[in-house]
Amino acid sequence: MKFLIEGRKPLKGEVAVAGSKNAALKIFPVALLTRKAIRVFNVPEIEDVFRAQEMLVALGHEVKKIKNRIFEIKFKKQKYFDLPVNLVNKFRASVMFVGPMLATCGQVRFSHPGGCVIGAGARPIDLFLDSFQKMGAKINISGNYYHLTAKKLKGANIFFSKISVTATESLMTTACFACGETILKNCAMEPEIVGLAQYLNSCGAKIKGAGTPTIKITGIKKLKGGEYKIIPDRIEAGTFAMLAAASNSGEVLIKNFNPAHLESLWALFDKIGVNYELDKSSVKISRSKKLVSCDATTHEYPGFATDLQSPYSVLMTQAYGSSLIHETIHDRRLLFTDILTQMGANIIMADPHRVVINGPTPLYGRQLVSPDLRAGVALIIAALIAFGKTTIDNIYQIERGYEKLDERLRALGADIKRIDN
Ligand code: EPU
Repeated sequence: MKFLIEGRKPLKGEVAVAGSKNAALKIFPVALLTRKAIRVFNVPEIEDVFRAQEMLVALGHEVKKIKNRIFEIKFKKQKYFDLPVNLVNKFRASVMFVGPMLATCGQVRFSHPGGCVIGAGARPIDLFLDSFQKMGAKINISGNYYHLTAKKLKGANIFFSKISVTATESLMTTACFACGETILKNCAMEPEIVGLAQYLNSCGAKIKGAGTPTIKITGIKKLKGGEYKIIPDRIEAGTFAMLAAASNSGEVLIKNFNPAHLESLWALFDKIGVNYELDKSSVKISRSKKLVSCDATTHEYPGFATDLQSPYSVLMTQAYGSSLIHETIHDRRLLFTDILTQMGANIIMADPHRVVINGPTPLYGRQLVSPDLRAGVALIIAALIAFGKTTIDNIYQIERGYEKLDERLRALGADIKRIDN
């Protein structure tokens, strides 16, 4: 399937933000830690989440849809110690299944996780392996495969040499089942980590400090089941906000999210002159007089999210002046700007981590292929503001993270269709 987009239709109306992909993906692996039922609310119905559910089923759980966006997970029967290669290949967060398997089964075998190709080569998992080793795991690596064993994991003092979201979440979760206390230092502080800790604590875990650089976890014997409501997707909210700002054609209300999770974006909006109004759980973007350029550097939370860099780069093609975009988290995330250049943008790549965008420039429709999730959604924004028709192929990448995006964009007035290849 492809998207066919006719650009420059005025956008106006309301759009509700779905549950956070990167929160949902961490909740399903946690189900491995309990034999009790878990009910999860506000689950985004996206491809990566379907893969996480398939992984749980392959490992012996039942995942039932109760109604829209509500799922129940129940343990049925332990099946394997192997994480299925065909699923591990599809999404990076599959690495979240490793710790819980090791902690509950004493061993786990898996291949190197897949996901967006945005890092140098395959995105590394050294922080996970080093930390599991510190907790007493033995690691055997053969080619692309890992075999981890541990009779009983023990608490450890772990300093992450890099700030990593998933490594923080993985070790925080795994340490719940280790003997004694674990202290994690130089942790990531994303709201999804706080949500995960709150959920684990509600099931009986003893985690303190999530949302700060130091997290302390005291090991426990068992976790209860429970209920968890996934927090709204701040990246999706920010993406819609930048679409509305870049299209600058009408009033768009983005609702059902927490604006406090996007302070770094509002600070940029203040500088570039976006006309926006925040409320408790929404933002209204109205037409702006003139957008001016502003440099942006991606940073761990609460800094400017790397996952928002691509829509921001598209927005900067519509602003007056030059902006330097500095991507500090993922090595290959700026490469997609070459596609924006093909659409008419004036972008100079200084090195793989930095581009200069000179604007404003009109963009023109082209035949494109989505390289990955966030670049893909940025190309949709570019196509929506471009003159003429654009086709975007490889939309699986986009649907890994955005639920019914075409439907929701049509409701705002966009001309976007799904067509056969
Ligand atoms: N890193 C290592 N070694 C590791 C782990 C990470 O060197 O063992 C490096 C990475 O290569 C990267 C940096 O550390 O340069 C930070 O990566 P991090 O581990 O924080 O990324 P992640 O946990 O794999 C999550 C999100 C990403 C988001 C990043 C940064 C999930 C499933 N993914 O990835 O989201 O970009 O944090 O905020 O939570 C997306 O949604 O499109 C996406 C890529």
